[in-house]
Amino acid sequence: MCGIVGGVAERNISNILIEGLKRLEYRGYDSAGLALINGGHVLRERRVGKVANLEQAVIEAELTGSLGIAHTRWATHGKPTENNAHPHISGNVAVVHNGIIENFQELKDDLEALGYVFTSQTDTEVVAHLVNDALKSTPSLLEAVKQVVPQLKGAYALGIIHTDHPDELITVREGSPLVIGVGIGENFISSDQLALLPITNRFIYLEEGDIARLTRETIEVFVDGQLVNRPVKELDATVSNASKGEYKHYMLKEIYEQPEAIQQTISQALNGNALREDFLAQAEQDFASIQQVQIIACGTSYHAGMIAKYWFEQLIDVPCQVEIASEYRYRTPVIVNNTLYICISQSGETADTLAALRDTQKRAAAKALNICTMAICNVATSSMVRETHHSLLTLAGPEIGVASTKAFTTQLAALMLLILKIGQVKQSIAEKTVTEIIAELWHTPKVILDTLQHNPAILHLSELFVEKNHCLFLGRGTQFPIALEGALKLKEISYIHAEGYAAGELKHGPLALVDNEMPVVILAPKDDMLDKLKSNMEEVQARGGELFVFADEHSGIKTKERQHVVHIPSISAVLAPIVYSIPVQLLSYHVAVLRGTDVDQPRNLAKSVTVE
Ligand code: G6P
Repeated sequence: MCGIVGGVAERNISNILIEGLKRLEYRGYDSAGLALINGGHVLRERRVGKVANLEQAVIEAELTGSLGIAHTRWATHGKPTENNAHPHISGNVAVVHNGIIENFQELKDDLEALGYVFTSQTDTEVVAHLVNDALKSTPSLLEAVKQVVPQLKGAYALGIIHTDHPDELITVREGSPLVIGVGIGENFISSDQLALLPITNRFIYLEEGDIARLTRETIEVFVDGQLVNRPVKELDATVSNASKGEYKHYMLKEIYEQPEAIQQTISQALNGNALREDFLAQAEQDFASIQQVQIIACGTSYHAGMIAKYWFEQLIDVPCQVEIASEYRYRTPVIVNNTLYICISQSGETADTLAALRDTQKRAAAKALNICTMAICNVATSSMVRETHHSLLTLAGPEIGVASTKAFTTQLAALMLLILKIGQVKQSIAEKTVTEIIAELWHTPKVILDTLQHNPAILHLSELFVEKNHCLFLGRGTQFPIALEGALKLKEISYIHAEGYAAGELKHGPLALVDNEMPVVILAPKDDMLDKLKSNMEEVQARGGELFVFADEHSGIKTKERQHVVHIPSISAVLAPIVYSIPVQLLSYHVAVLRGTDVDQPRNLAKSVTVE
């Protein structure tokens, strides 16, 4: 998704801006650009494709400057071309923008009537012209931006500079993330703090509606025209630990980090085989009054929610619904009293999930309903964590690969901890069951480590996939969402068309697709559904389908003609979805590598989807 980096300093910052953009590359983008103010001119370079192309252009043009803005663009309005890449310029104003200006067409019509000429198809360009126009009535860049902001509808973040203001960077946060990186005698902005970590660990997190003016020495934040105080927060050094190390791709590194990530996530909540007394203690009263749960999420996080639904209902007898945020937010769902709303999100910034949360809060308040909101999130400083009553962090560390892996399995671990906690508060789970599940949770990192030992066998299976165009993933119970997740992973990074199905649905449609050319991946832990799943496997084989089975080592399922089996170490049925995530991640990873795709930044996708 689009990324913003900007800064005002005494030194040349072109290389800092480029480095910042490189650190945002993982989010997904299709073009990049940079503008610097130097000697009363705006110096700009833009390139389609990788930041490296832009870097080369900046070096060749010898662009330098101590005030500048830079951007990676993920096309929403207009194709990924150089003209559509940011920054956009009008007169002496340059602008970078994340998000969407919804009323841009009306604004564009008005500006064209005033004689402004548009050189791009973007919504962003209206902002540059509007600021330029507002400067006719005020010499102050800040005042001009303050005049423009109320005219813009939508969710956006902006960085704005002007040749007559060589020590001034104006920034706006209105529905799209933006942080200020506080330096010594220099200050920076970015849509993601990760971009600024080489320069500072001190950040100001802007809030929705904030307009800020940065100079080398000062940072002023305004809300409705009034100066406000936003605290500077110092970031833990471990957050910055994001490099590929010995691994070929971030995704592979992140797959291998799962034992540790899960251990970290559960350690915050557990003391031996019990939940810590202080774990979510501040939420106990809310948990006591809830009667049902509504989970809202997107993508892989939605699959984590689907698994939690099984757990909530089976383990602690609490009704649970789960829905994709982009649907939930627009279908006017009934807000029910005494409901716990859980947003699951790796980034905590996903536009649809945030909008669904905000809408739910607003509608509950309007009806004076008692609801409680909670974020399960990997980013402590994210909007979602800040805007919910309670939060539970997944301690996975930064996840860079677009395809989510360790964020997903830590979400599952966190959800299980939450369920145990709610079950205890509501006394709807036996203490013995809590103790058993906690013992299994502690054991999970080891089982994952042992599962990772099967990597060579999974690589071997993936070689049989390279030429395939379609694939089915089947599972039952909590393995149904893992089937969906396996299919999502495979299509995201290898571009093979894949479908996940509940194996019981096979006869209701997908069986018609099965032939010699259709690989079918089966998830077969040792649980109550194993015999039924074996019947489903027979149905596939009888139609000439080729089976790729991840099966419990004690399942009795063996390799035979057109049936390839990788045995997975035994794990309790309840936690099996965490462990069975690993082979489907590895399978997709290897297939993608063999097909030569861009594993960490697959085409057309973004890590953090901060626009609708
Ligand atoms: C994007 C990412 C997915 C992620 C989804 C939801 O589509 O590519 O990996 O699952 O967004 O993101 P979130 O940050 O809310 O978990």
